[in-house]
Amino acid sequence: MNFKRCLADSIDLELENVDFENLIVESISPDKGDYCLPCFSLAKLMKKNPLEIANIILASIKQTDLIEKVEILNGYINFFLNKSYVAKNVLENFNIADLKLADGKGEIVLIDYGSPNLAKSLHIGHLKTTIIGESLARLFEQCGYVVKRLNYVGDYGTPFGKMIGGMLKWGSMEEVKQKGNDVLQDYYIRFNQEEKDNPELTQLARDIFKKIELKDKEIYPIYQTIVDIALAEAKRMFDLLGVKFDDYRGEMYFNQFAPQVIKMLEDKNLLVESQGAKIVDLTPYDLTPAVILKNDGTTLYTTRDICAAIERYKEYHFNKMIYVTAIQQNLNFRQLFKIMELAGYEFAHDMEHVSYGMMSLPDGKISSRRGKQAVLVDLMDYALSEANNIIKGRKFEIEDPSDVAKKVARAVLSFAVLKVDRNKDCVFDVKTAFSFEGETAPYMQYTYTRIESVLRKYRDTKDKADYTCFNQDAFELVKYINDFSIIIRQSLIKRDPSIMVKRLLDICKAFNKFYTATKILDDNVAATKAKINLITALKDVLALGFNLICIDTLKEM
Ligand code: ARG
Repeated sequence: MNFKRCLADSIDLELENVDFENLIVESISPDKGDYCLPCFSLAKLMKKNPLEIANIILASIKQTDLIEKVEILNGYINFFLNKSYVAKNVLENFNIADLKLADGKGEIVLIDYGSPNLAKSLHIGHLKTTIIGESLARLFEQCGYVVKRLNYVGDYGTPFGKMIGGMLKWGSMEEVKQKGNDVLQDYYIRFNQEEKDNPELTQLARDIFKKIELKDKEIYPIYQTIVDIALAEAKRMFDLLGVKFDDYRGEMYFNQFAPQVIKMLEDKNLLVESQGAKIVDLTPYDLTPAVILKNDGTTLYTTRDICAAIERYKEYHFNKMIYVTAIQQNLNFRQLFKIMELAGYEFAHDMEHVSYGMMSLPDGKISSRRGKQAVLVDLMDYALSEANNIIKGRKFEIEDPSDVAKKVARAVLSFAVLKVDRNKDCVFDVKTAFSFEGETAPYMQYTYTRIESVLRKYRDTKDKADYTCFNQDAFELVKYINDFSIIIRQSLIKRDPSIMVKRLLDICKAFNKFYTATKILDDNVAATKAKINLITALKDVLALGFNLICIDTLKEM
């Protein structure tokens, strides 16, 4: 039910260029009604003071079932809704399937996220791109779009020359196969250190990378094995986070299209020579020039992104393509989008960069298995062990404790990323993240289990529900249920799942307030039925909302 529209419709007064629906807002406290209409902005138009205007509007209001009473206070018209009428209407017509919105009309959205650089361990920034990207993917799907999840792996460049160089100097393929990803990282780090005193190593890394590009008989298979190992480790992380990609083609794959792209840019007179390199001059657009081809003939990050955009368009005919990366890549994407536009690709206007602020770990709080800065795998281990501790402390038996622990750990990580406004920096709050109190993921999951447990105890009767027992606490929940589609849309439009997180926290708080003060199952069958209808709808809404922010529901914890 669109309360604002219904209230606006009840006002039997025509004012030119005034849409009452847009003027009506939620009241700040229950004593001022559920919604109010501030009359101040109408003073100029109606040439009267707000109190007079309020009286004129009040006189025109038609009585409807929705409205219990209307009051005037200081230039505001306060609407009080008829609680039992609204509750019956909202809850008995509630169908979770209606929250699958049709806005997107099946349009195709590509989301490029999660994309790690395979030469380096995944770090906590990758948690952000992965969780924000996945939450957006789910929001788009909920709003009726068809989503393709693209992981554009960074598998190109001299870092791979360094890794292989390190392996040939200090290790062996045997060791790599035995010890896996960690030892690859060690070669890379050692190579970077020794390179400082030994510039020959820089050339060595370049030469090796050249051989990778030329698919050298000896080096290329080594490269492939290394990429496979690093990618398997990255996939293990994504799996733990509950994220599945449709496509893992990355920089190396798309680089094969570079010669065509360079020719295309040349044909369109967009490339100019600068100190032996080829660049697109973007200074007329207040952007720094973008290098497309270095003087040694190698391509750049932007070059490969141009290739990928063109190929992806050919393949998917997308209506939107969204890149989820750290805010530091803003300039890069502005350059990319400008180049696509200058090259005449209509779809340039459908490319979008969704950036995010930095998340850091509190110093020394999470131990690193490799004695260096904690990376994503350390954070995940930490989360899992904390979640296990919670479960171990429970007095009752849990059916599948390791599954519960996994879901709690994952929820804590998703929540850490999504609770803050997307572009804000934040520190992962190790101390409170696992608490059952306050604004935490376990608090939300626990709230859900409370609903589950009440519903398990309830035996349905065929009685009619009686909603007249609903107090303000219950009514707040009814309104949250009614307005949930608005929150889904807002989160998507702003590309910010933190809007959804905040609303879900509010719902959980409101439910717990209601739960503490009200006996849900009591002797009055009709009233009990009404409360059951309320929490059944609430359960569906929470399950849907949790899923949109990458938090699993639990039956017990
Ligand atoms: N691999 C990059 C990084 O870790 C992110 C890639 C984003 N996607 C893209 N098409 N450029 O920073």
